[in-house]
Amino acid sequence: AETGPRIAVLGTGYLGATHAVCMAELGFTVIGYDVDAAKVARLAAGEVPIFEPGLEELLRKNLESGWLSFTTDIDGIAGWADVHFVCVGTPQRAGDGGADLRYVDAAVDQLIAAGLAPGALIVGKSTVPAGTAAGLAARISAAAPDVELAWNPEFLREGFAVEDTLRPDRLVFGVTPGGAAEARLRAVYTATIEAGTPVVVTDYATAELVKVAANAFLATKISFINAMAEICDVAGADVLELATAIGYDARIGNRFLRPGIGFGGGCLPKDIRAFQARATELGAGSSLAFLAEIDAVNLRARQRAVTLTRAALGGVVAGRRLGVLGAAFKPNSDDIRDSPALDIAAELAAEGAQVVVYDPAAIPNARLRYPSLTYATSVREAVKAADAVLVLTEWAEFRTLDPAALLPHVAGAVVVDGRHALDERRWREAGWAYHSLGRPSGAASQPGADDLTDDEAAA
Ligand code: UDX
Repeated sequence: AETGPRIAVLGTGYLGATHAVCMAELGFTVIGYDVDAAKVARLAAGEVPIFEPGLEELLRKNLESGWLSFTTDIDGIAGWADVHFVCVGTPQRAGDGGADLRYVDAAVDQLIAAGLAPGALIVGKSTVPAGTAAGLAARISAAAPDVELAWNPEFLREGFAVEDTLRPDRLVFGVTPGGAAEARLRAVYTATIEAGTPVVVTDYATAELVKVAANAFLATKISFINAMAEICDVAGADVLELATAIGYDARIGNRFLRPGIGFGGGCLPKDIRAFQARATELGAGSSLAFLAEIDAVNLRARQRAVTLTRAALGGVVAGRRLGVLGAAFKPNSDDIRDSPALDIAAELAAEGAQVVVYDPAAIPNARLRYPSLTYATSVREAVKAADAVLVLTEWAEFRTLDPAALLPHVAGAVVVDGRHALDERRWREAGWAYHSLGRPSGAASQPGADDLTDDEAAA
């Protein structure tokens, strides 16, 4: 027997697929909708199109139990569901870097056109510019006066999507005063709320802004420490020790303070650009002018890694063979969107290096996007006869490499640690010339960045 509201999830990308599976796991009847028939077919067959630990097991379990199904028929779900979660993408638009809202608009317009059930609730989860929800609400109430809209941003991290969805740090409900949306959202999230997750109930614009403000803060933290790495390089100081020391101040905190080649992925870079574009539209561009600097520091870190590699090889990379370990924008992911690792690999290849890339999960995606790079199927193959080895994504497989065992395979014992992922002392003792950003080469006797809990370590 059905319990609670019937739930539709529109858009089955990273966010939507995870949300649909987790809502079913919480005991609701859920239908996931997408325009992409191939994606729907794969999900319906129990196959997750992305690399996300734990998601496929939960998908299969809930398909089998019958709580969860997928469709390309929006007319079928429009009148069926009580709650519609809008989880479609908001890509970066060309030009000013603002958010492209065409998929959000289409989803809502199609629901309205197909005819919503009386009293239905539409819940936006996509990351949108401030003001979007108010505009959608006006359109919805003109067409379907008894349908409400709420904005409920999502903060999940790739690699921890299931965990972050089932046990988020907080829930944010953007609602209009006097409506039923808050009570209905509380009913949907009862289990999460009972487990102690705090709820912030607010207006639409604040809810929209919480999401981009959080990502802007996280991006700022990373670019701050990478700017300190630039200073450490010219001052002869050590950014890892600096990060450890400032991180002990609880007001600063040591999470998300790992220096290196910077942030990438489908969210942080795009969200800080869209946030600036929106601020400019609102006449407050100067309030977020600093985010352009955050973006610039971030992109500069990639350039500095290229320069460091060149210097490590005596000034020229052309004709040299480079083994690049890492393609994904972060470990435990096959996502290569705006990946610093591949950006650096492509730049070095453009300078004439022979670049061979290995990644435990992201090679199929990398191959599509960067077809002219060479790909290997193992660390061993990537580093074979290499003049230098670059570690650009901190997969556990790379952190735990035995530097002595690699030596016989390389042509030059030069390693560039773009993520401060390796135990420097161990690599040096094995005979490698070790290079990283923001640290005096040859100095540091301290092992790796173990005092810095990046998100993976902290989770
Ligand atoms: C991010 C936010 O964390 C999440 O809350 C939001 O919902 C979506 O965007 P995600 O893109 O999955 O999540 O990646 P995240 O783990 O935040 O890492 C982003 C990038 O920052 C990665 O490229 C990572 O390598 C880099 N990073 C992270 C650092 O360079 N240093 C750090 O200390 C932490």
